[in-house]
Amino acid sequence: MRLRCKVNGEALEADDVWPGESLLYVLRERLGLPGSKNACEQGECGSCTVYLDGVPVCSCLVAAGQVEGHEVTTVEGLADGDRLDPVQQAFVEKGAVQCGFCTPGLIVATHDLLERRCQPSDPEIREALAGNLCRCTGYEKILDAVRLAADRKAAS
Ligand code: FES
Ligand code: FES
Repeated sequence: MRLRCKVNGEALEADDVWPGESLLYVLRERLGLPGSKNACEQGECGSCTVYLDGVPVCSCLVAAGQVEGHEVTTVEGLADGDRLDPVQQAFVEKGAVQCGFCTPGLIVATHDLLERRCQPSDPEIREALAGNLCRCTGYEKILDAVRLAADRKAAS
């Protein structure tokens, strides 16, 4: 099929797409957007999280055919050109990244949390990020980054 969808605000097309291949595969291998990571490919780790029509989803579990005519935002699309999104900036400043495999998914999940809840409590942060696994950081720096982004958002 020819897949037409909007990705990061841009109307894009990809040819010869098998409707059953994953959105994650389409993004990484057909559209040149490698930000979303493939760690488990079975909905367990959250490293592939993107927005689909404004709702965070595991892109490894979404079939390409389901995306036809819909709108996707990836971690690349959160930045404004060279200007990082405040959540991205907070992850950099707090050193919340080691291997970086989990980071794109965590950033999208955090972005979504802060859209819904400006000043989340620690339990709310932990619950919101429960589907995003990190094997490197021990999560403390990630929590620091989320708190920093939340504080900045509340102050802005
Ligand atoms: S790669 Fe999609 S949830 Fe792990
Ligand atoms: S930084 Fe390596 S999995 Fe999170």
